[in-house]
Parts: sequence; structure tokens; C-alpha cells
Amino acid sequence: MNTIMEKLDADRIDIKIIKNAAKVIREGGLVAFPTETVYGLGADALNSAASERIYAAKGRPSDNPLIVHIAEPAKGKLIVDNVPEKAEKLMRKFWPGPLTMVFKQNGGVPRETTGGLDTVALRMPNHPIALSLIKESGGFIAAPSANSSGKPSPTSAEHVLLDLNGKIDMILDGGMVEIGIESTIVDFTEEIPSILRPGYITKEMIEQEINYVNEDFALKGKKENFTPKAPGMKYRHYAPKAELVIVSGIEKSVLERIHLLISEAERINKTVGIIASDETIGRYKRGIVRSIGARSNEDTIAGSLYGILREFDALNVDMIYSESFDTPRIGQAIMNRLLKAAGYHVIKV
Ligand code: TXA
Ligand code: MG
Repeated sequence: MNTIMEKLDADRIDIKIIKNAAKVIREGGLVAFPTETVYGLGADALNSAASERIYAAKGRPSDNPLIVHIAEPAKGKLIVDNVPEKAEKLMRKFWPGPLTMVFKQNGGVPRETTGGLDTVALRMPNHPIALSLIKESGGFIAAPSANSSGKPSPTSAEHVLLDLNGKIDMILDGGMVEIGIESTIVDFTEEIPSILRPGYITKEMIEQEINYVNEDFALKGKKENFTPKAPGMKYRHYAPKAELVIVSGIEKSVLERIHLLISEAERINKTVGIIASDETIGRYKRGIVRSIGARSNEDTIAGSLYGILREFDALNVDMIYSESFDTPRIGQAIMNRLLKAAGYHVIKV
């Protein structure tokens, strides 16, 4: 299959290109498109054969359900059983935006889309290209992140092309995404809502609207036999080819330990990548050092995380040592992804 790449300007969308892309979706094909979080790989959510194609293109396990993307809340309500008042509040506050909510579904969404669950995850993305594609395609686009399964999520159209060239029909190139990590997922299928995946919308932001939300994800360490409610959270995601180790503690000790680790690795002829920050990058003298962004501006860290992991893959380093980034607001989401990429390998100093 020849994958067509189309460039689009989010501020002046060429509707002809969107209509072509929407035609591909309506006919059961696959189109990757930008959202504010990461690029998604879209298919008609109500077409079971189209959803199956997503799993095949990504090499994704079929029990891992897809998020259904909508362009207006009213459409979402057509496929779910009931939207609790608290969820309505979050929709009003955060949609369009990086928040996904899980509801009981009313039977209309094929099992290929929901991984056989009787629930469905809904998200209204905050990106003009995504919204216009969803509207033109009939209103329901199933879309996981547009990476091959096990790779970091794509934050640019080039990342999508690297992973899925020849396996999908079209890529809409809207440039770099804004946020860089996937949406927050909140489950509304039980009495008390709970966060299944941390993201840009934090627990604190949600609790300003609805008092209380649980947390239900393995964050504090590797939990054996842990069965998360978001099936995708159990897979080793975002895995770089190199062994990744996080070093956590006060800055001085972290720098000392990473220097020691670099020396040890280089002594046995291993190439080393370092994930530093703007604040520390000048202090590393060896290894291939990259700044992930500024601790003083955590949005920059979220935005670069996946790109850096991909860059170290391309450079074929043997080891990656990373500082820890428990920044105040989205640090939890950043560390959730980084810990997974590291297989929870953390050295505390
Ligand atoms: O920001 C995002 O959410 C991006 C963009 C493209 O919208 N999408 C994304 O999709 O990250 P994906 O497939 O890579 O991750 C979806 C996660 C998986 O962990 C999956 O298990 C969970 O959502 N999920 C989907 N439907 C669910 C459901 N009905 N119940 C519980 N978890 C669900
Ligand atoms: Mg994904």
C-alpha cells in the first residue's frame, strides 16, 4: 500500500484534503491525523473491519480497546448508555481537550473497537484538523496513538511515517503536536470516577470540578499481577531499544551517579545516551546528552519526551540514563510514561 502524506495548515485548513481523507475513512481505510496530545491512527469506529485494520497496522493486541473520537458531545451520547452529571461537568470544562471518559456503551459500537468490553472511551480532541476530519467522516473515529505497538507515541507526522509507512492509507501532517503525551483517561462506569491514565488534565484540575476522583494505575512501582482497568496500561509501552535507567534524588547526587554510570558503561564500550534538562545539560561531560526541556516549564518536558526516546533509538545507543522529572503539575503523567519506558528501573540516590 502506498501511504499518502498530506500537509495541512491548522489555521487555514484545506477542506478538499479533509474531504478526501474522510472518504478514505468512510470506505473503511486508515488515516493518521494530529490531535493536541499525539498523532492518532483513525478508522470508522462503527465499522468492525476498519477497526481490525488498526490492530493489524500497529501490531496491537486485540484485547486493547480503542478510544472513540467525536467532534461534538451530543454524538458521544448517542453511543453511551448514560452520562452522569459529574461527567457532564468535565465535558463542559475540558472538551474539546486532552480528557477521555469511559462509559457503559449502548451496544452500537462493534467489539472490534472496544476490545470486547461493554464500555466505550470517548474523547473530543482540541485540534481543528482532528475535529474537521471527524465531522466529515460521519462523527465517530476510533483512534489509538499512531505508532507501532511498543514504540513511543508519535508527536510528529515523520514519526508516524517511520512506523506505519506502507501500512496505512494516509497521513495528515499538521506539524508537531502541542502537548506530547496522551490524554488523561477517567472511568465513569462505577459510582466513584477514577483516573485510569494520568495526563495533561490532572487529578487536582478534575477535583476542582467534581470533588473527588480515584486513581487506578500502577504508578508507584511495578506491580506484579496488577490488572489495570485500561487494558493498554498493562503492556510495556514506549519501550526504547536501549536499556533505560532513571536516576532519582537531589540534583548533585543524581549528576554524580550518572557520571559514574557513564564511566562504567564506556569502560565496556557501550554507547550512552543521557536525558538531562535545560538546567543540567551543561554539566555532563561525556555520553550523548540531550535536554528534554526546562524543569521551570514542564510543558516543554512533556513535549519532548517521546521524541528523545525515538532519537536515542535512531542513534542506537546501548544505555540511556535519565534524570527524574517529578515536576508539580504534569510530572505524574511524565513519570508514568518514563517509568514504563524504563520497565520501572529506578536508582534512588
Ligand atoms: O491522547 C490520546 O488519548 C491519544 C490520541 C490519539 O487521542 N490516543 C491514545 O490511544 O492514546 P491509545 O489507544 O494509544 O490508548 C488508549 C488507552 C489504552 O490504554 C486503552 O486500554 C484505554 O485507553 N481504553 C480504551 N477504551 C477503554 C475502555 N472502554 N475502558 C478502559 N480503557 C480503555
Ligand atoms: Mg498508545
